[in-house]
Amino acid sequence: MDRAHTARVTFTSSGVRALPAAQEEALLRVAQEALHNALRHSGAAHVDVVLEKNGQGARLRITDDGSGFDPKTVRRAGRHLGLVSMRDRAGGAGGRLTVESAPGKGTTIEMEVPGG
Ligand SMILES: Nc1ncnc2c1ncn2[C@@H]1O[C@H](COP(=O)(O)OP(=O)(O)OP(=O)(O)O)[C@@H](O)[C@H]1O
Ligand SMILES: [Mg+2]
Repeated sequence: MDRAHTARVTFTSSGVRALPAAQEEALLRVAQEALHNALRHSGAAHVDVVLEKNGQGARLRITDDGSGFDPKTVRRAGRHLGLVSMRDRAGGAGGRLTVESAPGKGTTIEMEVPGG
């Protein structure tokens, strides 16, 4: 693994008030894993993390301009737990997760939580 990441990472946040603790923790864990994946797998030059208000809740988006991948063909076996755990975290907090990626197109992970 190449630890000398060269990606430029930005974080932007707008208008998000305090959320229920379980939702905040889920957002943090998903942001960590999505960022980790982008830096480890994608070779991206840019990774942008955006947190914004969405009704009573919030929307988190992690976008990279790296290699992209086909979410349908990711092996469910053993070693690849990140995407599965992000989905579980989002669902467990009453929210949802979407993964948008394709080879050559970069990746966007989006998570919404309801607030309340
Ligand atoms: N941002 C990304 N850019 C390119 N490929 C990605 C990205 N995120 C995930 N992938 C691909 O999807 C696979 C599955 O990701 P996942 O996070 O589930 O597992 P992992 O990172 O390989 O292992 P783990 O997260 O369990 O340590 C990765 O191995 C990689 O091939
Ligand atoms: Mg991972």
